Amino acid sequence: MDIIITNTDHIREAAREFISQMGQSHVFAFYGKMGVGKTTFIKAVCEELGVDDIITSPTFAIINEYTTVPTSVTIYHFDFYRIKKLEEVYDMGYEDYFYSDALCFIEWPELIEEILPDDTVRVSITEQEDKTRKVSF
Ligand SMILES: Nc1ncnc2c1ncn2[C@@H]1O[C@H](COP(=O)(O)OP(=O)(O)OP(=O)(O)O)[C@@H](O)[C@H]1O
Ligand SMILES: [Mg+2]
Repeated sequence: MDIIITNTDHIREAAREFISQMGQSHVFAFYGKMGVGKTTFIKAVCEELGVDDIITSPTFAIINEYTTVPTSVTIYHFDFYRIKKLEEVYDMGYEDYFYSDALCFIEWPELIEEILPDDTVRVSITEQEDKTRKVSF
């Protein structure tokens, strides 16, 4: 499945399309080059799911936790870019997140590839020649 994000003005409709295809999966790993738009897309998906307190300022947290309104779904947004050793991920108790009912959206999953759950949905975001982004999964 491919979703094209024409530009950031159209990201919410792309997010809605993504949500309509999420099914029962709850761990999503987002691959893509630095600056391709992973965070921007994940935030748009969170907003469309009903999160109303998205952190918009740059943040260096490994995990941000959100809750949707009114459905009260917990979402964990991970950014593993700064992980140096897998041990750091063990220490933060990743299993409690990945194997919960919560939705998990993961940036830089290549750094923790060996501990991704078997049923992780792998999503790739690429920039095309015309600068649009393609979200493939
Ligand atoms: N779909 C898009 N079309 C055009 N520009 C975009 C799109 N998505 C994001 N951008 C722009 O690209 C820049 C980087 O976006 P973002 O931080 O989401 O990338 P990222 O993939 O999360 O980067 P990193 O690898 O550093 O985490 C932002 O300034 C944003 O405005
Ligand atoms: Mg990012």
